[in-house]
Amino acid sequence: MRSHYCGLVDETLIGQSVTLCGWTDVARNLGGVCFIDLRDHEGIVQVVIEPDQREVFAVAEQVGYEDVLRVTGSIRARHSTNEKLRSGRIEVVAERIEILNKAAKLPFYSHENPGEDVRLKYRYLDIRRPEMQRMLRKRTALVRALRHYLDSRGFQDIETPILTKATPEGARDYLVPSRVHAGEFFALPQSPQLFKQLLMMAGMDRYYQIARCFRDEDLRADRQPEFTQLDMEFAFVEERDVQDFVEGMIRHIFKQVQEVELVAPFPRISYAEAMRRFGSDKPDLRIDLEFTDIAALVTSCEFKVFTDWANHEDGRVVALRVPNATLSRKQIDDYAAFVARYGAKGLAWMRVDDLAKGREGINSPIAKFLDETALNAILGATGAQSGDMIFFGAGVYKTVCDFMGALRLKVGKDLGRVENAWKPLWVTDFPMFEWDEEAARYVALHHPFTAPSVDDVADLRANARIAVSRGYDMVLNGNEIGGGSIRIHRPEMQSAVFDLLGIGAEEAEAKFGFLLEALRYGAPPHGGIAFGIDRIAALMAGTESIRDVIAFPKTASAQCLLTSAPSTVSAPQLQELHIKTDLKPV
Ligand code: AMO
Ligand code: AMP
Repeated sequence: MRSHYCGLVDETLIGQSVTLCGWTDVARNLGGVCFIDLRDHEGIVQVVIEPDQREVFAVAEQVGYEDVLRVTGSIRARHSTNEKLRSGRIEVVAERIEILNKAAKLPFYSHENPGEDVRLKYRYLDIRRPEMQRMLRKRTALVRALRHYLDSRGFQDIETPILTKATPEGARDYLVPSRVHAGEFFALPQSPQLFKQLLMMAGMDRYYQIARCFRDEDLRADRQPEFTQLDMEFAFVEERDVQDFVEGMIRHIFKQVQEVELVAPFPRISYAEAMRRFGSDKPDLRIDLEFTDIAALVTSCEFKVFTDWANHEDGRVVALRVPNATLSRKQIDDYAAFVARYGAKGLAWMRVDDLAKGREGINSPIAKFLDETALNAILGATGAQSGDMIFFGAGVYKTVCDFMGALRLKVGKDLGRVENAWKPLWVTDFPMFEWDEEAARYVALHHPFTAPSVDDVADLRANARIAVSRGYDMVLNGNEIGGGSIRIHRPEMQSAVFDLLGIGAEEAEAKFGFLLEALRYGAPPHGGIAFGIDRIAALMAGTESIRDVIAFPKTASAQCLLTSAPSTVSAPQLQELHIKTDLKPV
């Protein structure tokens, strides 16, 4: 149908005849001459229709925006060139134009960028925009590079079921009713976790899958109810085997797809250190701000908030020094309001106007509560200089990490302190369990199949509160792009972990009996990781939202605006599935 792509026609083709297909980006009739900007996935080319070509001109006059055309013509040099386009030095002199399909008036045009709801409802029009084309192509390049890397290194690409049994990853399941088994349900996989472990027990050695995962959880810019993982598993490995391999892979694909050389090796920090220095288990290392713990300096000062938390078993008192930041009262108040959303009860601050003047040179609502020793100790510990701003957070350890960690990111972004760089790292040594106050039981920080760092069941039981897991996350510019672990491969350890998580023997047998049984028949030590493809693609494409790198994403309320899913179904259909609802039949 066509001889060339619109966006690739250039001066090397001058004098030649071409046939192009595409959409009408712009159509202009300047009285004497018609111009059409014809667009395809490669870009735009200018078509000119001269009045002496009467028949062609008559067709061109009928052409409207987004009409689908086939144009045959010859290439000639252009008078006024457009250096931004590859085709900007030439134009196509039309000899024949066919309107392959007329377009009705569109809700928006390719050079507009309307609200996201409109974009999602008419996603096929949205994707016509060059920016969306660029981002989706970036994702394809990423997946292609990953597949190529793994296919040439002995990995088996194996599909695992979508209709399956619940695999817990900490979110709610999407359920699918069974027609043939009344009252029974499949769950869509939150990840292929258990199947990939079974594949290791089955002797497949190295597995990967570009796998769709389904999680019914609260959505954000970096979370979708269905998303894609690069899921991997390795037999006979320890942490470093997995980490070294995938670090090499990530470095390779960044070089190939992004032409970026990532540091080697990635820095590694423990979960405890990440919380201590940055208040986050996915620290953004592009921001050069760090916490200083000051509890030991304020155990007996007159500021009760500090002393209370400094002497509290679960308390934390932390300072965040922001060099060279003369903030106004309004800005400081805004930050106080910001941290309140993360559970802060207040945000104390200190502006160091002139360090040499001692107390006189300090502007702070809390300075009056601090004696000479405490004040000097705080200034010394934070390394404060004239012109600095220091924020303080006090409270329960986890809460202080949350709000001061969020403040660190916000201040870093607001004050332009985010380095233009790629900063990957490993976070390791996660706690095995987290105590869930509401449920009054432990929950797995990663998932229940992650091995503890101790081999001995009795040891784990005795020290569950402080147990460390063999899990690890890869973090890039403040995003958790991958998470994995060495797995439990002995049935008695798996049973003990279920037990500690409050999953009794009977429930464990009902939910995970197949796993416990498989572990008894010769399970090799194994481990793996899964990467969030959407998140990596978004980072590479330079967008904040993973929705931009998913062709047909869901909204923040888990709906597809294009197809209007989810939607009601007919009463007979429900009946067949043995489901009774309060919904009126449609
Ligand atoms: P995890 O739950 O950490 O681990 O998921 C792995 C990676 O998947 C991405 N991710 C998401 N991306 C978009 N939307 C979501 N809702 C979402 N949830 C997670 C993140 C995350 O790092 N089975 C384990 C992996 C393993 O242990 O091997 C798992 O799924 O980038
Ligand atoms: P107050 O005496 O309650 O007015 O507090 C004095 C200063 O301490 C104010 O700037 C408060 O925002 C701040 N503040 C109060 N509680 C906390 C807290 N938990 N952490 C940090 N600062 C606090």
